[in-house]
Amino acid sequence: MGTMLVQRVESLSLSGIESIPKEYVRPKEELTNIGNIFEEEKKEGPEVPTIDLKEINSSDELVRRKCREKLKKAAEEWGVMHLVNHGISHDLINRLKKVGETFFGLSVDEKEKYANDQSCGKIQGYGSKLANNASGQLEWEDYFFHLIFPEDKRDLSIWPKTPHDYTEVTSEYAKQLRGLASKIMEVLSLELGLEGGRLEKEVGGMEELLLQMKINYYPICPQPELALGVEAHTDVSSLTFLLHNMVPGLQLFYEGKWVTAKCVPDSILMHIGDTIEILSNGKYKSILHRGLVNKEKVRISWAVFCEPPKEKIILKPLPQLVTQNQPARFPPRTFAQHIHHKLFRNEEEEDTK
Ligand SMILES: [Fe+2]
Repeated sequence: MGTMLVQRVESLSLSGIESIPKEYVRPKEELTNIGNIFEEEKKEGPEVPTIDLKEINSSDELVRRKCREKLKKAAEEWGVMHLVNHGISHDLINRLKKVGETFFGLSVDEKEKYANDQSCGKIQGYGSKLANNASGQLEWEDYFFHLIFPEDKRDLSIWPKTPHDYTEVTSEYAKQLRGLASKIMEVLSLELGLEGGRLEKEVGGMEELLLQMKINYYPICPQPELALGVEAHTDVSSLTFLLHNMVPGLQLFYEGKWVTAKCVPDSILMHIGDTIEILSNGKYKSILHRGLVNKEKVRISWAVFCEPPKEKIILKPLPQLVTQNQPARFPPRTFAQHIHHKLFRNEEEEDTK
């Protein structure tokens, strides 16, 4: 069988169409709250917290405790935050963005050589969303998806060969980000009254926690008020780390309203995902979020999902966090079962529409 022909959003965008195909148009109820992202970004109101990690290991106990408490509070109230002074050099981050931009700067035909094939389970590579329900709903983005850590689980044969330093730069970023993930999970564990290494262990540790990178490429959209780059969802990961090219797009559903994340220079945006929400018995939040597109600038983001192994671990609230007053809020499920449950639940919602 030949490879199925998949519509690339970049090709649609470059074709000069003035209205978008109906598959990209959101349902009526959603259209009432999709605005112009540049206007949305200027709005005043609640803001995603910014956490300065400079003091996270301070030898002064009081200083250290204050920094860690801020992180805890952000994880409890928002489940998403901008991290600054995160310890990953700006030079490395700039190089990471450069290699991703260079790859996406190739023609669609060149990128097609890296196309994934979701129909046969080849999920790594260059891709676009395939409609997974009767409505045929699609998202306004193309992406490149690949596992970047642990190193022995990577498939370097599918990584971009252009630019030539793609692998070197991305590998270094993966290694450093893995260190940051450990540090964050340590603080999140201690703040729950657990041993420092507990969350790390629960999600698989150095050997089993998988870092999956998705470079999201959101082309210019002629009717941005009708489409979404990514539809509303919560991340299934333990933690997600996100960089972008300083074009706004991310919105968080906070206290009943969509709040636009401002672009914070030199920051890494971090989400608490469902996995840590479950383990913490809901103390830490996995927030609903989505991505808007625009008609002026291409947006690119680099998401790294830190995911537990699919089958090996049963995710459930940690016994220390379950009491008579705070019963377990989530049933035990493997990571694979959790993903299935979310898909299935969405399908049920579709059926009742
Ligand atoms: Fe997400």
